[in-house]
Amino acid sequence: MVTKVWRVDPEAPDPCVIREAAAILCAGGLVAFPTETVYGLGANALDETAVRKIFVVKERPLWDPLIVHISRPEMAERLAASLPEAFWQLAEQLMPGPLTVVVRKRPTVPDAVTGSLPTVALRMPSHPVALALLDAAGVPVAAPSANRFGRPSPTRAEHVLADLNGRIDGVLDAGPTPIGVESTVVDLTTTPPTILRPGGVTKETLEAVLGTEVRVVTAPVKEGQSAPSPGMTAKHYAPAVPVLLVAGNPQGLTDCLQRLLDEQPQGRVGLLLPSHWASYLPPALRERCCFFDWGAWGDWAELARRLFEGLRWLERQRVTVILAPLPPPEGLGLAVRDRLLKAAGQSDAVK
Ligand code: TXA
Ligand code: MG
Repeated sequence: MVTKVWRVDPEAPDPCVIREAAAILCAGGLVAFPTETVYGLGANALDETAVRKIFVVKERPLWDPLIVHISRPEMAERLAASLPEAFWQLAEQLMPGPLTVVVRKRPTVPDAVTGSLPTVALRMPSHPVALALLDAAGVPVAAPSANRFGRPSPTRAEHVLADLNGRIDGVLDAGPTPIGVESTVVDLTTTPPTILRPGGVTKETLEAVLGTEVRVVTAPVKEGQSAPSPGMTAKHYAPAVPVLLVAGNPQGLTDCLQRLLDEQPQGRVGLLLPSHWASYLPPALRERCCFFDWGAWGDWAELARRLFEGLRWLERQRVTVILAPLPPPEGLGLAVRDRLLKAAGQSDAVK
C-alpha cells in the first residue's frame, strides 16, 4: 500500500484535501491526522472492520480500547448511554481541547473500539485540521496515537511515517503538534472522577471546572484487563534504547552520568538536557554525550511539547542509553513525568 502524504495549512486546510481524506475514512480506510496533542490514526468508529485494521497496523493488543473523536459535544449523546452533569460542565469549559472523558457506552459502539468494556472514551480535539476532517467525515472517528504500539507518540507526520509508512492510506501533514503529550483521560463513572492518564489538561484545571476533588491513578500498572484503563501499562512510549531517569537537578544528572560512563566505557549517552544545564557538566563528561536541547526547566509546557521529539531524535543518534531529569508532579509536569516513567518502565527516579 502506498501511503499518501497531504501537506496542509494547520490553520486553514484545503477543503478539497480534507474531503478526499474524509472519503477514505468513510470508505473504511485509515487516515492519520494532527490533533493539538499528537497525531492520531483514524478509522470510522462505527465500522468494525475498519477499526480492526487499526489494531493490525499498530500491532496493538485488542484489549487496549480506542478514543472516539467527535466534532461537537452533542455527538456524545449518540455514543453514551447517559451523560452525567460533569460531562456538560467539562464540555462547556474545556471542549474542544486536550481532554478525553470516559462514560458508559451505548450498544451501537462496537466492542472492537472499547476492548469490550462497558464504557467509551470520547474526545473533541481543537486542532483545525482534526475538526475539519471530523466535520467532513460526519461520523465519530476512533483514533489512537499514530505510532506502533509501545513507541513514543508521534508529534510530526515524519514520526507517523517512520512507524506506519505503507500500512495506512494517508497522513495529513500539518507540521508539529502544539501540545506534544496526549490528552488527559478522566473517568466520569467514578466518584470522585479519576484521572486515568495525566495529559494536556491539568488536574488543577479539572478540579476548578468541576468544583470537586479529582483523583489520579499514576502508579504504572501491569499489562492486562484488570487495570482501570487497559492501556496504562508500565512499559510504553519507549524508544528502542533504555531510558534512565534522574532527580530533576543538575547535580543529580552529573552524578548519574559519571556513574554510567564509568560503568560503560564504550557507551554513548543521550541526554534530554534542559537549556543551560550543559554548563554544569564537566567537559570530560560532555564529550561522550549527545544532547537534545529540551527547553527551559520549569516550563513544563515546552518540555511536554518537545518530549517525544527528543526521545525519537536521540534514538536516531544511536546512543546506548537515554538519560533524563524527572519533572515534579505539578501542572503539565505531571504528564511529562508519567510519560518518562513509562518510557523507562520505572516507578521512580534513580537517586
Ligand atoms: O491525545 C490523545 O488522546 C491522542 C489523540 C490522537 O487524540 N490519542 C491517544 O490515544 O492518545 P491512545 O489510544 O494512544 O490512548 C488512549 C488511552 C489508552 O491508554 C486507553 O487504554 C485509554 O485511553 N482508554 C480508551 N478507552 C477507554 C475506556 N473506555 N476506559 C478506560 N480507558 C480507556
Ligand atoms: Mg498511544
